[in-house]
Amino acid sequence: MPATGIGRPRLVERYRRFLPISDATPSLSLGEGFTSLVRLGRLGRQLGLPNLYVKLEGQNPTGSFKDRGMVVAVSKAIEDGARAIICASTGNTSASAAAYGAAAGLEVVVLLPKGQIALGKLLQALVAGARVIAVDGNFDLALRIVRELADRRDHPITLVNSINPYRLEGQKTGAFEVCDDLGRAPDILAIPVGNAGNISAYWAGFRDYQGARITSSLPRMFGFQAAGAAPLVLGHPVERPETIATAIRIGNPASWHKAIAARDESGGLIEAVTDDEILAAYRDLARLEGVFCEPSSAASLAGIRKLALAGRIEPEATIVCVLTGNGLKDPHTAERNVGPILEGGSTTAAVVAALGWS
Ligand SMILES: Cc1ncc(COP(=O)(O)O)c(C=O)c1O
Repeated sequence: MPATGIGRPRLVERYRRFLPISDATPSLSLGEGFTSLVRLGRLGRQLGLPNLYVKLEGQNPTGSFKDRGMVVAVSKAIEDGARAIICASTGNTSASAAAYGAAAGLEVVVLLPKGQIALGKLLQALVAGARVIAVDGNFDLALRIVRELADRRDHPITLVNSINPYRLEGQKTGAFEVCDDLGRAPDILAIPVGNAGNISAYWAGFRDYQGARITSSLPRMFGFQAAGAAPLVLGHPVERPETIATAIRIGNPASWHKAIAARDESGGLIEAVTDDEILAAYRDLARLEGVFCEPSSAASLAGIRKLALAGRIEPEATIVCVLTGNGLKDPHTAERNVGPILEGGSTTAAVVAALGWS
């Protein structure tokens, strides 16, 4: 077949009619989006859910869903003449901002909660040349500080957290892809919730598609928070959020009201899952399905499993769990959840012995 020279379309071009993109918006891309929707055959059978899928957002260029929104936020920042961008982060936003900022030639500043960032994410930001500042406090404090810095006039800098509306605009594309791949909207969209931007963006995306008559129904939005960091479940901020799922270790979500609206308008729910439930889902995804996601991502499947076992999900439902980030980002959690490497010596016989075959 002759080469066309067209290549893959860009995400923002594919969904341009739904995005704040004009001819004045610079073209920026690292190849984000177009992530796989995979049916969970073995786990689906175990749970009695034949139509259970995961969306592998770890396939994005920096390994998380953040790239969908970052490409739009950084493009618009350049269009508006920005020279510098700033964010607070539990890790993935910083990795994404650092990469897109580097590609656009911008100064990048990221504030992280000290000692609470998965190693891979920290390295991503540093390798991309971002200035990384650790604050003595949690994500909520870091976000408060970057908001203040972005308001100052002496050093103009664009905030690229999900309170920047362009981020959520870009993240809507995840919902579009789910519908395009399924040929319809799912019945249930399950998603981990931290700062609550992504659940809000997905809901907006599903509504856009229904409004444009591309789909005829809307999913119920099922958000899952870690039990030690579940302000939306408790109904009040959590001062000291705690969970092994560091990406969603957030006590006072910026998009609180939007997430509650997504839950209520869709007839959905926001519930909590324990760290043990998250880790069980994390391990099973890898061992039964070959999918290596980060712990926070597994909260979506952990929640669905909990509801299914309690008989709270109709078996025929088409369910999509968003797996928000790549497992390689958090090698420490992975290390703590695997057995030892077997010693194989230097002979076939020693390897056979190590395998217990002799
Ligand atoms: C891997 C991962 N999953 C889920 C979330 C939660 O997304 P949101 O903060 O938009 O609720 C984050 C946020 O940083 C994340 O990095």
